[in-house]
Amino acid sequence: MKKASSNTRNGRGPPGAAAGVPDAADTRTAGALREKEWYFRHFVNAVVDYALYMLDTDGRVAAWNTGAERIKGYAADEIIGRHFSRFYTEEDRRAGLPARALETALREGKFEAEGWRVRKDGSRFWAHVVIDPVRDDAGRLIGFAKITRDMTERRKARQQLEQTREALHQAQKMEAIGQLTGGIAHDFNNILAGIVNNLDLARRHSGGSPDVQRYVDAARAAANNGAGLIQQMLVFARKQPARIETIDVNGTIANLIPFLKRTCPENVAVASALAPDAGFASADPHQLQTALLNLVINASDAMPEGGTVTIATARAAPPASADAPAGDYVCITVADTGVGMTPDVLQHAFEPFFTTKEIGKGTGLGLSMVYGALRQMGGAAAIESEPQRGTSVRLWLPGAAAPERASGEVADVTPQAVEPGTELIFVEDDVIVSMSTTEMLREAGYRVHEAGRGEKALQLLESHPGVRVLVTDVGLPGMNGHELALESRRRRPGLKILFITGHDRSRGDERIPPGFDTEYLGKPYQPEDLFAALRRLGPG
Ligand SMILES: Nc1ncnc2c1ncn2[C@@H]1O[C@H](COP(=O)(O)OP(=O)(O)OP(=O)(O)O)[C@@H](O)[C@H]1O
Ligand SMILES: [Mg+2]
Repeated sequence: MKKASSNTRNGRGPPGAAAGVPDAADTRTAGALREKEWYFRHFVNAVVDYALYMLDTDGRVAAWNTGAERIKGYAADEIIGRHFSRFYTEEDRRAGLPARALETALREGKFEAEGWRVRKDGSRFWAHVVIDPVRDDAGRLIGFAKITRDMTERRKARQQLEQTREALHQAQKMEAIGQLTGGIAHDFNNILAGIVNNLDLARRHSGGSPDVQRYVDAARAAANNGAGLIQQMLVFARKQPARIETIDVNGTIANLIPFLKRTCPENVAVASALAPDAGFASADPHQLQTALLNLVINASDAMPEGGTVTIATARAAPPASADAPAGDYVCITVADTGVGMTPDVLQHAFEPFFTTKEIGKGTGLGLSMVYGALRQMGGAAAIESEPQRGTSVRLWLPGAAAPERASGEVADVTPQAVEPGTELIFVEDDVIVSMSTTEMLREAGYRVHEAGRGEKALQLLESHPGVRVLVTDVGLPGMNGHELALESRRRRPGLKILFITGHDRSRGDERIPPGFDTEYLGKPYQPEDLFAALRRLGPG
């Protein structure tokens, strides 16, 4: 388009007007032609939003407008004579796309498509392209007209709109499933409570028949499993009240890691990368621990050949797509090097009862519990995964300021009557509850021996003559808490006993003799409740 620039030198009007009178009369037609051309050039170059250019029959650039220069970055004299395939990406060139575009234009009279194109500086833009064959008056092909439009911004806006719609749809779907799940869980909880209460009655009235007791205990254990599932459903449906506290995120994870290591098979390593500035967050510590346990079990299941699951922390906010209010967050990432998920699995992973595991191996409640718990705590959860490239699940908890506590001041809950230093056995089959309660008691100065079952507690009692107190869950698998209490008391008459129970706060069990010096504590409980119950036992 060098000529175009020499033309513009002529100034503001068409050549005939601005440059004065035509040279001779016989140039009238030539003048008219030049005038037309003048208008045409200005018209073409005024179009800056479209790259308008012409190719010769071989696909070489023959004419080039300002819009083309603006969009593609080449000045006219740099590009005229060059083949238009340079505007295509390497992959498209290799696939023979430029030649095919011209063939299509010839065959069908027009080629139209969207795709990535490359600018002079190597950057890509999303183009809408039209190619028309150009023929002379005799119908001979003289080249191609090409119109290219930069659609990058529009495509981005379109994608964002789609993502927002998809996120909204997903949120509505989860909300609906939540309602449904919450309703079912609530009904089943009541049904289960009826079963459990009657099992307890049946056991008491079993007339001491060991067979009947065994059957009842098996039924009770199954009911307990059912109750566990219902808890997860309730958490997903956000029907389980969260006990939000300010927690030290790194500390909580560091405490949990030894337990997670024990949970994973030997070929799965558990690593952590805790950012020193992760700080404090608002969370229900029990729900958070259960969520992390679910994630680590998933990670471990995804690595049958072994691998590493890494728990990392950072002070970082979720992306807009996570649909969480703006603010300060602590991010916990649980990443594995396992089999990953296909896009289809990824899309459904948070839904309750979605599982790819064999019947009996997975209930599909793990991730839904994680999702519900995080939403309820005011945070968010998201999964990134690709087949064979591992999975990262990110949890965002609302950030919190460090709790105010003057240096040197200890926790405000200090047990008194059963004095710190007292040796006790703590029996609980839920490992997470066991771990956190043991931690709590140790912090308060108790010397705690942990047992997951009654039988183990009896062994501990034998091997630790200094034990003065037994704290036991009532609903234990195998020997239950009441039986354990009776047997322990038989072996060590002065032993003080504190029962913890999720079901029955009464002291009505017939096999505990009157005057039996015990206390009951209902689940769930706060540290101060536990310490208060220990105090009620009297001096140890
Ligand atoms: N870390 C992971 N790597 C690969 N796939 C995963 C991972 N975590 C979850 N999944 C996929 O998501 C599905 C749902 O997970 P979720 O934890 O909700 O249920 P589950 O593990 O199958 O059963 P449950 O946790 O109730 O025992 C899994 O069945 C699995 O297909
Ligand atoms: Mg799971």
